[in-house]
Amino acid sequence: MQTTKLSLLIKLAANNRNIVRTVVSSNSVTVNVSDQLKPLTQIPGPSSFPIINQLHHFLPGGSLYKIDGFELLEKFYKEYGPIVRLDGIIGGTPALVIIFDAESAAQVLRSENWMPIRPGFHSLEYYRKHHNKSREDSLKPTGLITDHGDNWKQFRSKVNPIMMQPKTIKLYSSALDEVALDMIARMRSIRNDKNILEGKFDIEMNLWALESISVMALGGRIGCLDPNLAEDSPERKLIQCVHDIFKVSDELDFKPSLWRYFPTKTFKRAMNLYDEQQKLAKHFVDKAVKELKTKSKSDEEDSVLEKLLAVDEEIAYIMASDMLFAGVDTAANTIIATLYLLATNQEKQNKLREEVTSTHDKRSYLKACIKESLRMMPVVSGNLRQTTKEYNILGYRIPKDHYLTFAHSYLSMMESEFPRPTEFIPERWIAEKDDPLYYGKAHPFAFSPFGFGARSCIGRRIAELEVETFLARVIENFQVEWFGPPPKITPASLNYITGPFNFIFKDV
Ligand code: HEM
Repeated sequence: MQTTKLSLLIKLAANNRNIVRTVVSSNSVTVNVSDQLKPLTQIPGPSSFPIINQLHHFLPGGSLYKIDGFELLEKFYKEYGPIVRLDGIIGGTPALVIIFDAESAAQVLRSENWMPIRPGFHSLEYYRKHHNKSREDSLKPTGLITDHGDNWKQFRSKVNPIMMQPKTIKLYSSALDEVALDMIARMRSIRNDKNILEGKFDIEMNLWALESISVMALGGRIGCLDPNLAEDSPERKLIQCVHDIFKVSDELDFKPSLWRYFPTKTFKRAMNLYDEQQKLAKHFVDKAVKELKTKSKSDEEDSVLEKLLAVDEEIAYIMASDMLFAGVDTAANTIIATLYLLATNQEKQNKLREEVTSTHDKRSYLKACIKESLRMMPVVSGNLRQTTKEYNILGYRIPKDHYLTFAHSYLSMMESEFPRPTEFIPERWIAEKDDPLYYGKAHPFAFSPFGFGARSCIGRRIAELEVETFLARVIENFQVEWFGPPPKITPASLNYITGPFNFIFKDV
C-alpha cells in the first residue's frame, strides 16, 4: 500500500514537471499553461497500423487510393475536422498535420516568422548541398528554396531590397508589355480557323512565362516566342526540365520513396534533372552577364541582375537561376486558371475588357480578377512549416520539428470565409465594407496564395506585374471562350492544369 502511494506521488511529481511547460498558444504569446493538451497521436486522421501506419488507405482498394488535391483535402476536412494527422511512412513522407483553421494558421505562421523553415524540395537540397560536393561546398549558400537558418536569412536580406522593391519591379512594365504583345501575335499566328491554338496551350503559356521572367531576372529577352524556336532549344529544354523537376520532387519528397536509404531510379533521374536545370540556367545567366559587360553604361536605372551582381556575384547567379526555376510554371498556371475562369464567366470578362480598354490608370478590376482566380484555383495549395517550438493547436500539443501544412486552398473555398465560394466574383475584392461579399469579412489567413511573412514568395510583385500585363492584353485583343468540361488539375508539388485546354480566342 505504502509503495503504491509512494510510486503514485513520484509519478504525480514527475507529471507536474511535464504539465507546466512553455507552449505557444493562441495570439502567439508564449505562456505557461497547466494544460490538458492531447498528444499528437490523438489528432483525428485515417486509422493507423504499426509499421505501415496509414499506408493501406493510399493503396489500391484503400479509401484514399488515387484521391489527391482539393478532393483529398475535402475528404479529410469532412471526415476529421479542422486538424488532421497524417503519419509518416518509413522511407517516405514525413509525419504531417494538416490545419483547416485560419486562426491556428495565423498563430503558427506569425510565431514562426523570425526564421521560418519551409520543408519540401529535400532531394533538391540534397543535390545542392551534398551531391558530388565537398564538405566546404555543403556550407555555401544554395538559394531561398533550399536554404534554412542563417544561410537563408543572409541570402534573403540581400535580395529582398532588390526583388521586393515596387520601384525596381515597375521599371519592367514596358518590357513586359512588349513580351505580352509578342505573345498575342504568336497566339494569332498559331490559331486555326476555329480560333483554337494549335499545339500545347500549357507549353505556350510556359514560353510566355519564361520570356517574361527572363526579362526580370536577366534584364533582356531570350527569344522564347521566336516562331522558329527549335524543339531542342535551351529555352524549351529548360521548360521541360523545370516541369519534370516539380514532378520528380513530388515523387521523392512527398510520396513514399527509399531514396534516403539508397539511390533509387527516380533519385538518379532527379540528380540528372537538377544538374541539367543548373547548366541550362547558367547558360542563360552567363550570356546575360556577358552582355552586361559589353553594354555601355546608360542613365537608365540598373536591372535586377545588375543590382544583384553589385551585391554579390554568387548570390546573383543563384537568385537569377532560381527565378528561372520558380517563376515559370507558377505564373503560367495562374494565367491559365484566370483565363479559364474569365472564359466561363463572360459578363465578368466583358467588364474587365471595359476596364483595360479605358483610359483609366487604376486597374482594380484586373487585380481583383487575378486575386479571385488565386482564391479558387491557386497554383500552390498549402503553406508548409517545420515548427521550431511546441504549439497548442486546437487543444493538441504539436511538438517542435513537426511538419504543419495550412490548407489555404481549402479555407478560401469555405462558405464561412468567402460567401458563394464556387462562384467567380472578382467584385468581392473591391466591394464596400458593408457588402456581404466584402473580402475583409474573411479571416486574413484564409487566403494566402503567396505564403506568409519573411518567407513568403519573393517573386510575388514580379508575378503580379507579369500576369496583370499579359492578361490585360489578352482580354483587350480576344474574346476568350471555353467549350466542354472543366480542365483537369493534377497536383505535383504545384497544381498543374493539365487540360484539355478548350479555349477559343476570337478577335474582339
Ligand atoms: C502566381 C505566381 C506565384 C505564386 C502563386 C507563388 C507562390 C509561392 C508560395 C506559396 C511560396 C511559399 C511561401 C511561404 O512559404 O510562405 C513561394 C515561395 C517562393 N517563390 Fe513564389 N509564387 C509565384 C511566382 C514566383 C515567381 C515569378 C518567382 C520568381 C521570381 C518566385 C520565386 C519564389 C521563391 C524564390 C520562393 C522561396 C522564398 C523563400 O523561401 O524565401 N515565385 N511562392
